[in-house]
Amino acid sequence: MKISAIILSAGNSTRYLSSKPKVFHELSGQKLIDFNISLLNKYKEIKSCHIITNTALKENFINLGYKNISIQSPINGTGGAIAQFVSKNNIKADYYLICLGDTPIFNKKTIDALIKKTKNQKLDINVLGQNLDNPFGYGRLIIENKNLKAIVEEKNCNIEQKKISTINTGIFLLSKRALLLSKKIKKDVQKKEYLLTDLIKIGLEHKYKVSYSLNAYEKIMGANTIEEMQHLQNQLQTSIIQSLMSKGVQFENPLTTFISHDAVIDKDVYIESNVVIKNHVKIKQGSLIKSFSYLEDCIIGKDCNIGPFARIRPGTLLEDDVKIGNFVEIKKSNLKKGVKVNHLSYVGDSKIGVNTNIGAGTITCNYDGKKKFKTTIGDNCFIGSNSSIVAPVTIANKAYVGAGSVITKNVPSNSLAIARVKQKHFKI
Ligand code: UD1
Ligand code: CA
Repeated sequence: MKISAIILSAGNSTRYLSSKPKVFHELSGQKLIDFNISLLNKYKEIKSCHIITNTALKENFINLGYKNISIQSPINGTGGAIAQFVSKNNIKADYYLICLGDTPIFNKKTIDALIKKTKNQKLDINVLGQNLDNPFGYGRLIIENKNLKAIVEEKNCNIEQKKISTINTGIFLLSKRALLLSKKIKKDVQKKEYLLTDLIKIGLEHKYKVSYSLNAYEKIMGANTIEEMQHLQNQLQTSIIQSLMSKGVQFENPLTTFISHDAVIDKDVYIESNVVIKNHVKIKQGSLIKSFSYLEDCIIGKDCNIGPFARIRPGTLLEDDVKIGNFVEIKKSNLKKGVKVNHLSYVGDSKIGVNTNIGAGTITCNYDGKKKFKTTIGDNCFIGSNSSIVAPVTIANKAYVGAGSVITKNVPSNSLAIARVKQKHFKI
């Protein structure tokens, strides 16, 4: 069974009050639309994934590297979007999976089940339905004797229909011939647009096999407003944190912690309150991340101790047993096993050898206003407090730097470098 996916993203997002298109808003570090794209990419039988968008958004999609962009013009509803797609494209797949750009699917089992039932029962139309405590705003599934008869949009529902709690998630699996029927959808009088949901009635009129699946694996919600987007964000954070807990990660207060969707955190890591873990972070077994630390695109080795108030910036690799204390910033640096930077320091573009101690207030001066330069500090060094290490510079193994030094020249191994004004005393 060859499937093509279509993601509808051409709506004007009038309810979403932001100048940034809603599908590009990030949820736990991933663009809203990318949740569906990355899920669909996992299927071998899904040969292509088309994004339907509007003329204004086309450039954004192209600049961000998205492929298979199809333009809907005019914007005339979800049914109009599919009908326009059908008339502009060669329809050759056996099935078409319709997803919505503003409605992310998080769990692969959801789509697995939809495909399985469609295949087994040779359905032409399979709608993914879902029961909601508060169905307000969604299209309702009209089911009689377990048969789907129609989908009615909120605006078109009568009082009885408004009480129905089984809603349309917006996700459909359509046979090729059912997709072609989209051309027969008529303009809805109330909404003044073509509704894809009307395909149910048209399919039944044509004696096609129409059914629905009830979603059992997650709550699928659309993000029409900023509030709904926030709701999705909360839902996703809860599931990321639950999944980490199930693998042995512990939290002091998970409600105050932000964790990106792609964080890889080993068991026996303990995360205190108010920690932010942005994209591409790996934390190995036994490490402790103390409060108010902010980590981004970095690797933290085993049994490290980070924070409180530490900032670990992109390109940083901390090997095992490293200690980073309060008000310390590390950028694009490799700190070997046992390094300690305990207080008030900036380490950037640096390599620091095993067991070296960086004293309080040490700054690697890596930038001359135009270019960035590297600092190399060897194994077992001791850098005295309040030193400025002016890059490019190398401090060899077992070297000492006296407190308050400004180091501008390489320091040989087993030596003590002092570069500061001598203390004088004046009688007063
Ligand atoms: C839609 C469904 C509703 C369902 C809900 C689930 C229809 C008519 N309604 O309502 O039954 O319960 O999703 O979240 O399908 N879009 C286009 N072109 C258009 C209009 C919309 O591509 O002309 C896109 C939008 O960008 C969006 C998606 O289709 O990603 C859904 O459109 P939206 O206006 O948000 O529909 P809902 O009112 O949420
Ligand atoms: Ca929507």
